[in-house]
Amino acid sequence: MNRIVLYTVLLLLTGKIAAQDRIPKVEALLEKMTLEEKIGQLNLLTPGGGIATGSVVSENVEKKIKAGQVGGLFGVAGPEKVRQAQEIAIKNSRLKIPLLIGSDIIHGYKTTFPIPLGTSSSWDMDLIQKMAEVAAKEATADGINWNFSPMVDIARDPRWGRISEGAGEDPYLGSAIASAMVRGYQGSDLMDARTMMACVKHLALYGAVEAGRDYNSVDMSKVKMYNQYLPVYKAAIDAGVGSAMTSFNDIDGVPASGNKWLITDLLRKQWGFEGFVVSDYTSINEMTAHGLGNLQDVSALALKAGLDMDMVGEGFLTTLKKSVEEGKVTEEEITTACRRVLTAKHQLGLFNDPYRYSDKSRPAKDILTAENRKLAREAAKRSFVLLKNYNNTLPLQKTSTIALIGPLANNKNNMLGTWAPTGDPQLSVPVLEGFKNVAPKAHVTYAKGANITDNPDLAERANVFGTRVEIDTDPEALLNQALNVASKADVIVAVIGEASEFSGEAASRTNLSLPASQKKLLKVLEKTGKPMAIVLMSGRPLTIEEELDLPASIVQVWHPGIEAGNAIADVIFGDYNPSGKLTATWPRNVGQIPIYHSSKITGRPAPKDNNHQKFKSNYLDVHNDPLLVFGYGLSYTDFAYSNLRLNKTEVSDRESITVSVDVTNTGDFDGEETVQLYLKDVVRSITPPKRQLKGFKKVFLNKGETKTVSLTLTPEHLKFYNSELKFIAEPGDFEVFVGTDSNAEHKAEFTLN
Ligand code: NOJ
Repeated sequence: MNRIVLYTVLLLLTGKIAAQDRIPKVEALLEKMTLEEKIGQLNLLTPGGGIATGSVVSENVEKKIKAGQVGGLFGVAGPEKVRQAQEIAIKNSRLKIPLLIGSDIIHGYKTTFPIPLGTSSSWDMDLIQKMAEVAAKEATADGINWNFSPMVDIARDPRWGRISEGAGEDPYLGSAIASAMVRGYQGSDLMDARTMMACVKHLALYGAVEAGRDYNSVDMSKVKMYNQYLPVYKAAIDAGVGSAMTSFNDIDGVPASGNKWLITDLLRKQWGFEGFVVSDYTSINEMTAHGLGNLQDVSALALKAGLDMDMVGEGFLTTLKKSVEEGKVTEEEITTACRRVLTAKHQLGLFNDPYRYSDKSRPAKDILTAENRKLAREAAKRSFVLLKNYNNTLPLQKTSTIALIGPLANNKNNMLGTWAPTGDPQLSVPVLEGFKNVAPKAHVTYAKGANITDNPDLAERANVFGTRVEIDTDPEALLNQALNVASKADVIVAVIGEASEFSGEAASRTNLSLPASQKKLLKVLEKTGKPMAIVLMSGRPLTIEEELDLPASIVQVWHPGIEAGNAIADVIFGDYNPSGKLTATWPRNVGQIPIYHSSKITGRPAPKDNNHQKFKSNYLDVHNDPLLVFGYGLSYTDFAYSNLRLNKTEVSDRESITVSVDVTNTGDFDGEETVQLYLKDVVRSITPPKRQLKGFKKVFLNKGETKTVSLTLTPEHLKFYNSELKFIAEPGDFEVFVGTDSNAEHKAEFTLN
């Protein structure tokens, strides 16, 4: 072995250079590149006229591509357009480097699936992976090779509009979903033109913005980060995600895009991430507003922190050369970032064939197929959560006379939900149409009943991407029509809730109750005394204590996607028995926020009976329990748990435990239950959460059937990050709870020796 080879092996072994550094094609290209061309690869632009996802768009894009000043584009779609863009790079730029073509495909491409908070409620990892596969197949057919998803941020504050985009509050469930999505998007081979590179976002802690206000600051202890907020990103990285996006917020006072601890020490060194890191939309520039210096300063800070690609801001493009000349950054740092971007292009096969995602024949074959829509319908019904079934109103007979009432009952514009810029609301199935499809013999009459909101300011803010809220100027007339329709029906189905853009980016709210117009509608309908089912749409947990008290059934359907109406009808008429479970706690009121199942016990726990007690950790005006707990969700049938058992009650730190429980379907419908396992570490060196989710399994049971469900607790499940941030399990007693939601009461105990 000669000395150079020996040295390289040594560097590889010590982790000083990553395996990717060895790609000869990339190395050969880097050799040829000027400093300017390397900087060009770090620049991600979005030309106007495409799919807008931010407030500024890039200018002179074509000229910049020709000049070798662009590494990737987003907001461009369609095989022809993407081919044109690649041609500009291949035919006109000196080194003919192909472009990354990105997009935000958050819940389906053209076949829009339910919002992610909804699909997380399915607790179905195969389904989630399958949706990501379909999204990849559709998007790549349209020229896209890089997806800004999965969004995995843990969210415990439903005021934050982006809670809709993720998997809710729990790191264990969130991690499983993160890896299922990465597997779905990237497949087993990124060279396959039906897969695309995923981008885990937003690193890090973006869901913990103060007061739930978007883009706000985050301040959090390392112990909380490591135990609660970081595992989801790490799960995506362990699943092999190719890229990562930094967040807008600061962490320990340093904005994520300039945070060396985050990008280099944690992500690359501790977690071994080898992909490339992109900023969020102008988040490098925004460090100036954060108070960290001018564009040249913050761009240098980002590069030195380990960030590779600048989204839209052009701070890298316009200042890095100067920073090299002034000795503020080195050419080597730029080469390293460029190497990572080129490696991604190599992994996607773009150097072999820059037009591999520009096959004109694919859209017709792969996009919006009947099979894809079928999956969307399946995903939607599996995401619905039955919150209450008053007097077993549901399911309805397919021959009923139904008053279908509400501002979302015959509406296309709000079915897709937020963050669906690639979808077309006009292709979605409204509820009225779904009812007619599924129950053609039912007698259904419709009335709008109320505006989504009567507040014109709120309506205007929700209408940024097209009309979501239309205000009829005579609300009394709407109410009267509703009453008229209701008076002739056997049963009322009220379809109400949030407009799709009441949640999502820059859509935080401080009031999470239903808009006054819809509250009023429900009160009026209640007075008719008719049986009523409420179909509730929203992008977040809402404060619906009053509505939950109504003599009515409630199904939470989120924003269900393209097959909305059909899927809702499937559940309302009992073709599908709802099985979804909440993945974020629903508070009684906004004052309880943040509220989540794995919170700490405190030294002065509130009394279990919820009676207020002085000098205990409780409120004067409302008790501590949430309105609806994490993991909650009913079925048309009932499930009984019995015979919880462990295969051992003493374990070493290398042994797993099998937890078994018998589950019986005791009701009148076949149905599916999600068996949940929670663990409590009774004594440990840092305060433990009340309980933590450590396992779940879905089980289908015919009526009367009993099955034994077994879950495994591995030594990893007992570990946590201690105050030195060491991931360890401490000897002592543990309690295991198994059941239908996070209040599970069946309990077993074991000791770790
Ligand atoms: C800003 C959002 O925070 C991010 O999630 C998204 O990927 C980018 N805009 C690009 O659209």
